[in-house]
Amino acid sequence: MDTIKFMIDGIEAEVTKGTTVLEAARNQGVDIPSLCYLKEINHSSSCRVCVVEVGPRLIASCTLIAEEGMKIQTNTQKVRDARRASVELLLSDHNQECLSCSRSGGCELQDVSSNLNIRKVTYTGEKSSQEKDYTSPAIVRDASKCILCGRCVGACGTMQTVGAISFAKRGFDTVISTAFGRPLAESTCVNCGQCIMACPVGALSERENIDDVWDDLADPAKYVVVQTAPAVRVA
Ligand code: FES
Repeated sequence: MDTIKFMIDGIEAEVTKGTTVLEAARNQGVDIPSLCYLKEINHSSSCRVCVVEVGPRLIASCTLIAEEGMKIQTNTQKVRDARRASVELLLSDHNQECLSCSRSGGCELQDVSSNLNIRKVTYTGEKSSQEKDYTSPAIVRDASKCILCGRCVGACGTMQTVGAISFAKRGFDTVISTAFGRPLAESTCVNCGQCIMACPVGALSERENIDDVWDDLADPAKYVVVQTAPAVRVA
């Protein structure tokens, strides 16, 4: 198997050709934070949290293939400042009701922010406003917490080959949406829950209150027949 040698934080590393710098670093025990990356499922390279310094440039390590003789720095001031700016931008348009969020304590954005020592968000501006989607009997979507990493899109499309959700619109208006922006219950979603597992934040969560589910099932205005049985176990 062909291998290449390169330097990471001054230490020589040898990896298989074609390995990304992120994977190579992790194989060497060097921690590089990431949010949008999900191995073999999502390589959107959208969050920029995994940037490293290669010569004078900052490059996202999750899609950068390690090359022979490359010199990588993963933890310089420039790298940390760039990561902090990216995370602060994400936080500036993120619902900050962390204490009541079901993902609190297991939120990757929270972890990355804490590791970067972010105590306040210096960016202010317009906020995206979207309503929660409670139409599914199994999944709640809260777009106000979405960081548009695309991991759910990869889990639904690439992994499960369902493709119920994808990116829609552009720029600041970008959203993750079902076809034609329909509620989740009216999409091709099969309630497998893999999108919840892939989500790094609290934008996708399981419906917790069984009474809500039965209320919705009883209300024809809310309940739309989906392809498989809802992920609710009946005793
Ligand atoms: Fe590399 Fe998001 S993890 S850009």
